[in-house]
Amino acid sequence: MKNAACNSAVFISRPIWSYINKIREISLKERIISDQEYSNFCEYLESATGIVLGKSKHYLVSSRLNRLMEERELLTYTELLDHLKKTANAGLREQIIDAMTTNETMWFRDIYPYEVLKETILPELSKITDRPIKIWSAACSSGQEPYSISMVVQEFLSRQPSAFPRGIQIVATDISASMLNYSKRAKYDEAAMKRGISEERRRKFFTQTENLWEVSPEIRSRVSFKSLNLQQSYSSLGKFDLIFCRNVLIYFSADFKTDILERMGAITNPGGYLYLGSSESPTRYTSIFKMVRAPGGVIYQYAPS
Ligand SMILES: C[S@@+](CC[C@H](N)C(=O)[O-])C[C@H]1O[C@@H](n2cnc3c(N)ncnc32)[C@H](O)[C@@H]1O
Repeated sequence: MKNAACNSAVFISRPIWSYINKIREISLKERIISDQEYSNFCEYLESATGIVLGKSKHYLVSSRLNRLMEERELLTYTELLDHLKKTANAGLREQIIDAMTTNETMWFRDIYPYEVLKETILPELSKITDRPIKIWSAACSSGQEPYSISMVVQEFLSRQPSAFPRGIQIVATDISASMLNYSKRAKYDEAAMKRGISEERRRKFFTQTENLWEVSPEIRSRVSFKSLNLQQSYSSLGKFDLIFCRNVLIYFSADFKTDILERMGAITNPGGYLYLGSSESPTRYTSIFKMVRAPGGVIYQYAPS
């Protein structure tokens, strides 16, 4: 009887054991993230970048981090977070930031900001002749935004060559190291070029090398790239006449949006302007920027009361 029970236990345990192994294999491969690990990871990401993931984006985290964890032979998210805490592991932190930021962008995104820039803002700024004009592209991703601004400046200068005698400087920043490297390289493939570059601008502002299109030196020369996390101080950047902070505030908490907008106000020259993404507005977060309707679209002017 004892033996029979024993045999049947062995008989039952084999399929269960192989089932357990299968589940383990799958969970290691897909690195299932538990609710507790997800909540710890969200806390880490918000403290490192300001990005708020919200509830139940478990899949987003595992799909974006799976490859990185495989490369680093990390089996669980607890292990990943321990690694980040224990070692001052700048490389791992950088990789996580690269993986978790959304870098969607395109040339002349939404068109109207660049029309308003050309028709309203640059004519106004061209009256300033005693100092350089400064523009900040505050989350520049792969560079299309600051280079688009520079192309509009070039077009304005071809109409009015004596404008901006002290020059225009465009400072482009992002938190993602890989995006900054990509931006500095200034070479784009056909898929990127198809997103917003007209044939005329392609001819005027790019040269083709094999299957890549390189931004011309005159467009690049006005743009400088720097690594900057929007959580850090902006004071080393100097003062700006125009700030592009487009399609990035959407990832942050209300408090962080207020903090960013007020610190951007503090480094905006009197009467300077702010551009946000087409679905973003400063009004719920601060009163220091007033909405201005320009032909073609809406911009915000720094006007503290
Ligand atoms: C969706 S892209 C927007 C790019 C561009 N401004 C546009 O509108 O096309 C958002 C960018 O914000 C950057 N980003 C996210 N969090 C950031 C932070 N805390 N500091 C600086 N940049 C950040 C990302 O790396 C990403 O390149």
